[in-house]
Amino acid sequence: MSKPYVLHILTPGKNVSPFDVNMAYDAGWQAVHGYCGIDANEITGLVQDAIFSRGPKGVKRTGIFIGGRDAGLSMDMLQTAREAMVPPFEVSVFADPSGAFTTAAALVAKVEQALHVAHHMGMDDLRCLVFGGTGPVGTAAAVLAAKAGAHVTIVSHSSLDAAQAACDTNSDRYGVRLDAGDGSRPERKRELLHEADLILAVAKAGVEVVGLDDLALARRLKVVADVNAVPPAGVSGVAPHADGVAIAGAVEGAIGVGALAVGALKYRVQHELLIQMRESDQALDLHFGQAFEMARRYVQ
Ligand SMILES: NC(=O)c1ccc[n+]([C@@H]2O[C@H](COP(=O)([O-])OP(=O)(O)OC[C@H]3O[C@@H](n4cnc5c(N)ncnc54)[C@H](OP(=O)(O)O)[C@@H]3O)[C@@H](O)[C@H]2O)c1
Repeated sequence: MSKPYVLHILTPGKNVSPFDVNMAYDAGWQAVHGYCGIDANEITGLVQDAIFSRGPKGVKRTGIFIGGRDAGLSMDMLQTAREAMVPPFEVSVFADPSGAFTTAAALVAKVEQALHVAHHMGMDDLRCLVFGGTGPVGTAAAVLAAKAGAHVTIVSHSSLDAAQAACDTNSDRYGVRLDAGDGSRPERKRELLHEADLILAVAKAGVEVVGLDDLALARRLKVVADVNAVPPAGVSGVAPHADGVAIAGAVEGAIGVGALAVGALKYRVQHELLIQMRESDQALDLHFGQAFEMARRYVQ
């Protein structure tokens, strides 16, 4: 009898995400087990427990998924998990905390697609505001947009200091330039909007970060992408189903991509990566980089 495909979900949170459990079963994992409240220093022990029990054949049918709420911590956990493995007892590891990595990958790929179709350009040198860029989705989206060539400003509604802290942490970690924007003062936010080519709305669900009046100030605006599916929309006029359509009230030529259009691609990417890690003969490290490569391939 062949051994079942077993996925171990490790999370610092108090519960594993039901979304991820469903996704794992739907991608063909036959047993999915969650470990909650995990500290970074417990990863090595748990990973070694998982890899040494099944023999070389069984280990190929074993995988590790890392959840949580913190993008940096989940990247550290992925690295620790990889270092804990002893060839040939190596398994694939997929980090996607709160779906942030696959969501950010889909978001930035959809922005590239919209820019290409409507404006015949890439993200190079465009000014990109990331509202809510201090959160897990925003962190990954800011880094991916910067790697794609945009001048990225992380905007925090709390304070400039909060935005600066996120920029410092992630610039160092990923080797990209990120600028901080003060979204706590309406006049500063408007100044930022004057210069924006792109807006990524990745703030907490159910929060409008740019209203109609402010949106009209963004005279260079080309694409707005919003991942918030809970009303009201993150950016006024960007409907959840919007997929490259004009935004009422914005400058002519500005187009919107809504949460459901991003979500459809995110779902596809997460599903495919879960299948890839189950089927691959190689032990894979999967995070927002691989998710972005796949999302880009799908939109092309
Ligand atoms: N479409 C999809 O497939 C999909 C998948 C996953 C997640 N999502 C969505 O992605 C978004 C981001 O998720 P997340 O987990 O990264 O979010 P999060 O951690 O809940 O929030 C992100 C940031 O939003 C800002 N924020 C909080 N309250 C705010 C307020 N009242 N006004 C303005 N900003 C506020 C905070 O930053 P500052 O305090 O620094 O401003 C926070 O760091 C959510 O809307 C989520 O529902 C979509």
